[in-house]
Amino acid sequence: MQKKVLILGGTQFVGRHLCEQLEHREDLNVTLFHRGKTNPGLFPGFRHVHGDREAEGLLPLAQENWDAIVDFSGYYPRSLRAFLNALRENHKLNQGELKYLFVSTISVYDLDNFGANETITSQSPILSWTEADETDTSMLTYGQRKAACEAAVQAFPEFNPVIFRPGLIYGPYDPTDRAYYWLWRQNQRKKLLVPETLDLRSQMTFALDFARILEHALFQPNLSDAVYLALTHPALSLAEIFEAMRASDVPAPQLCPVSGDWLEKQDIHYWMDLPLTLPFERLFESTPLERDFAGLFTPFAESMSLCRDYYAALGWPIPQTGLSPEREDAFLAALMS
Ligand SMILES: NC(=O)c1ccc[n+]([C@@H]2O[C@H](COP(=O)([O-])OP(=O)(O)OC[C@H]3O[C@@H](n4cnc5c(N)ncnc54)[C@H](OP(=O)(O)O)[C@@H]3O)[C@@H](O)[C@H]2O)c1
Repeated sequence: MQKKVLILGGTQFVGRHLCEQLEHREDLNVTLFHRGKTNPGLFPGFRHVHGDREAEGLLPLAQENWDAIVDFSGYYPRSLRAFLNALRENHKLNQGELKYLFVSTISVYDLDNFGANETITSQSPILSWTEADETDTSMLTYGQRKAACEAAVQAFPEFNPVIFRPGLIYGPYDPTDRAYYWLWRQNQRKKLLVPETLDLRSQMTFALDFARILEHALFQPNLSDAVYLALTHPALSLAEIFEAMRASDVPAPQLCPVSGDWLEKQDIHYWMDLPLTLPFERLFESTPLERDFAGLFTPFAESMSLCRDYYAALGWPIPQTGLSPEREDAFLAALMS
C-alpha cells in the first residue's frame, strides 16, 4: 500500500527539489498544501490542496491520516499548534505511525553571542521568545518564531518529530540569490569588492543534498537525533568558496579587499550587502548529520559546478540581492582613484 505524505509547501526551493525526487516514488501518495501563489502548475501528478495555513486553511488536512509530513512553511507557532492539536485528535482515533519533519533554521541561535572558537551543536542554547514575537510579522523575529515553532512540534512526541536546522541554502531555484551573488561575480566580473577577512570560514546547505536528507528521513526509523544541524559541507574560507565557484577556464577576478571600518563608513553591511560574509566565524557541528545521512552529500566543488550549469542555462542573470553591480563599480572606482 502507498504511504501518504503531506508536504506543507513544496513549490519554491528545497521543497521543489524534494518533490522532484518524490515524483519517481511509486510507493508514495503525495499531497502538497500551499496557497497556489508560488510557481503554480508544478507537479501535476500530485494532489494539491490550496489554502493559507495562517488562516486555518490547513486544519481540514488534520482530519486525514498521514504517514509523514514535511513542514517547509511553518513560520508562526500559533497556527502550527492549532494544526498539531487537530492532528492529535484525529491521530488518537487512528493510532497510525506519523513522522513530522520540521524545516527550521540556524537563525534559532543568537549567532552574535557565541565564543570565537565555539562550535555550535544541536544542544547549544537557542533563542527565547515573547508572546508578541509569536505574531510579529517582521524578519527581526524570524529566529524567535522558528524557535517557538520547534518547541510546538517537540510538544507532540507521538508524531516522532525531527527538526532540521539548515544554514544559508544554495542551489538551483534559490529565490534569494545569496550564494549566487558571489557565483555570478566569480564567473562574470573582472574586479570584486570583498571583505579583507577572506580566511574566515563558513558552512552552507546545498539544496539538493538537503532534499535527499529529508527524503531519507521520511521513513528512516533509526535516526539517532531529533534535532539535526543541516550544514552539508565542511567549513570553508571565503577564499576557498570563491575558488570552487569559479569555472576552471575563467580567469580569477581581481579582488579588492576592504576593512570592516571602511565598509561601515560606506554603509555597506556584512551579510545583507555582502551575502555569506560575517565579521566573525560561526561553525556548526556536522558529525551527526554526516553519520546518519552518509552517502547523500555532494562534494562542494561539484555542487558549485552544478550551480554554474544551472545559472549558465538561465543566461547568468544579475543577482537580485546584495550590492548592485553599479554600486559596487562606484565603490571600486572610488577605491582606485
Ligand atoms: N533559504 C534559506 O537559505 C533558508 C535557510 C534556513 C532555513 N530555511 C527554511 O526553509 C523553509 C523554506 O524553504 P523552501 O522555500 O525551500 O520551501 P518550499 O516548500 O520549496 O517553498 C515554500 C512553500 O510554502 C508555501 N507557503 C508559504 N506560505 C504559506 C502559507 N501561509 N500557507 C500555505 N503555504 C504557504 C509556498 O507556496 P505558496 O506561496 O503558493 O503558498 C511554497 O510552496 C522555511 O522554513 C525557511 O525557514 C531557508
